[in-house]
Amino acid sequence: MCGIFAYHGHRKNAPELVVEGLKLLEYRGYDSWGIAYKTEKDIEILKRVGKISDFDTKKEKLPEASLAIGHTRWATHGGVNQKNAHPHFTEEKDIVLIHNGIFENYLEIKKYLEKQGHKFKSETDTEVIAHLVEEHMKTHTFEDAIKLATKEIVGRYALVIINKESEKTIGVRKGSPLIVGVGNKEFFIASDIPAFLNYTNKVNYLDDDQMVIIEGNKIKFINTTNNDEIKKRLVEINWKPESAEKGKYPHFMIKEIMEQKETLAKAIEQDPKNIEELAKAIKKAYGTYIVGCGTAGKVGMVGEYLFSKISKKHINFSFGSEFPNYQDFLTEKTLLIAISQSGETADTLEAIEVAKEKGVTIASIVNVESSTMARISDIVIPIKAGPEKAVASTKATTAQLAILTLLAYACDGGVQEGKKLLIDTVSQINDMLNPRYEDYIMKLAKKIKDVESMYIIGRGMNYPIALESAIKLQEVSYIHAEGFAGGELKHGPIALITKGTPVIALVANDDTKSDIISNATEIKSRGGYIIGVSPENHDVFDYWISVPDTGNSSPIVNIIPVQILAYQLAVLRENNPDMPRNLAKSVTVK
Ligand code: M6R
Repeated sequence: MCGIFAYHGHRKNAPELVVEGLKLLEYRGYDSWGIAYKTEKDIEILKRVGKISDFDTKKEKLPEASLAIGHTRWATHGGVNQKNAHPHFTEEKDIVLIHNGIFENYLEIKKYLEKQGHKFKSETDTEVIAHLVEEHMKTHTFEDAIKLATKEIVGRYALVIINKESEKTIGVRKGSPLIVGVGNKEFFIASDIPAFLNYTNKVNYLDDDQMVIIEGNKIKFINTTNNDEIKKRLVEINWKPESAEKGKYPHFMIKEIMEQKETLAKAIEQDPKNIEELAKAIKKAYGTYIVGCGTAGKVGMVGEYLFSKISKKHINFSFGSEFPNYQDFLTEKTLLIAISQSGETADTLEAIEVAKEKGVTIASIVNVESSTMARISDIVIPIKAGPEKAVASTKATTAQLAILTLLAYACDGGVQEGKKLLIDTVSQINDMLNPRYEDYIMKLAKKIKDVESMYIIGRGMNYPIALESAIKLQEVSYIHAEGFAGGELKHGPIALITKGTPVIALVANDDTKSDIISNATEIKSRGGYIIGVSPENHDVFDYWISVPDTGNSSPIVNIIPVQILAYQLAVLRENNPDMPRNLAKSVTVK
């Protein structure tokens, strides 16, 4: 949620470099953007409403500068307009900053600052920080003023601040990601690595309550709570810049759907020690909870079914935002498994914080290995899906499902059996994901592209996949879509079915099969148009999408055609599937 990128070095094209880097972070927010760059005497600011990808640096030349900061916004406080776009600054543009996160007590501080004579132009929480730093600078240095300000701020944030008087670029983090890219006599500060991967793959990660101060060729790190200087390890990242590019595909979403042929294989190629360690912790725990949000939450719900069916284990699932309600049940023997692509989702992080306070062991199944979640977990299972840029999660979802399947088998002493099943699933997905398959789904997409509503039903481990299917369809096609447990429809929602209402029935070749087919038949009798996602065709289906019969990994194969359908519907309805309205890739606010 919001992308931050700053350059401090010897190149003369910092404004252009920052704009181009921000384009690679656009998935973090795309309602407005802005940059600030240092000229000899001043700090100049450029802000625009709309997507940064629409700004062509070849057509609109940006001035030369060697220090620039930039931001692409997903609005939280204040509407989408130029005033509320970042960077924010003090009246004389003496202090200029960009911010990702939420500053919870900003109204209180704003009132105090107004009394001191500060005037505000925007409705944002961020502008208040600039003025707070200015206020402290009446009696302190720039660096110390920032430290004092961060002590007063309540919330999660990543900030990058510059001022007119000094040549310093200062970054500080608490709860929102901030990573420093280290090049040859040049530095980059970003919310995510792809922004600078074209220049350097050497990084320093900032942890909470840490500050980076860059001045000339020098860089130092400070712990803001005790002012101690910190020595940081330089970490080499082995991502290739192309892995964060669209390549031959028109959108990241379809690229990432197609990548599932490889990402699933990588997810299974886990260090067996990781899986064994977590399986051991699950077996030992007195109460295990899985938490996640959105799609990662639906994956967690599948986990409940997988553990129950494969290893006869009772695991509780909770959405991250609901987890604090269970805190009374937590003890030092509890295990919490957090699932997340970004590792930065605020609600999941809060669940971890709540659990940590009770001494709970924390495990995370996460894609971004450098994320906050991975860094604060006792056990980490990286899903190895590579950068996922489309807002709609696809390849991370199936990689997480694969890990949970493997874990469920490992808890029953059958890790090899689980691995064999998944390897077979990968090879069948390889056969399935071909252009003919896409064309076949496209015929259906063209047929239903103008419907107002559609529904998805599933049973057992495919019930959460029905919920996940609904998220995929909602977020990119904007068609009203809802997922139900097959058996629940007749208790109310069946009233929504009218002639021609599309209903996707997710069928697995297991003990839920005959019941889900009965549910589809009930819907068909009320006029519903049944789309069967199933290993076998059936009379009740009006449209059959074939998927391989993969037993306990049916959630993995069943979600893929729905991902493709959602993508195609988005394109047919002229929506940008990579940047759905009102959404951002990682939700770093509560
Ligand atoms: O990064 P996370 O996996 O923690 O993100 C959780 C959700 O915000 C995320 O899955 C969201 O629901 C996706 N946009 C769904 O495609």
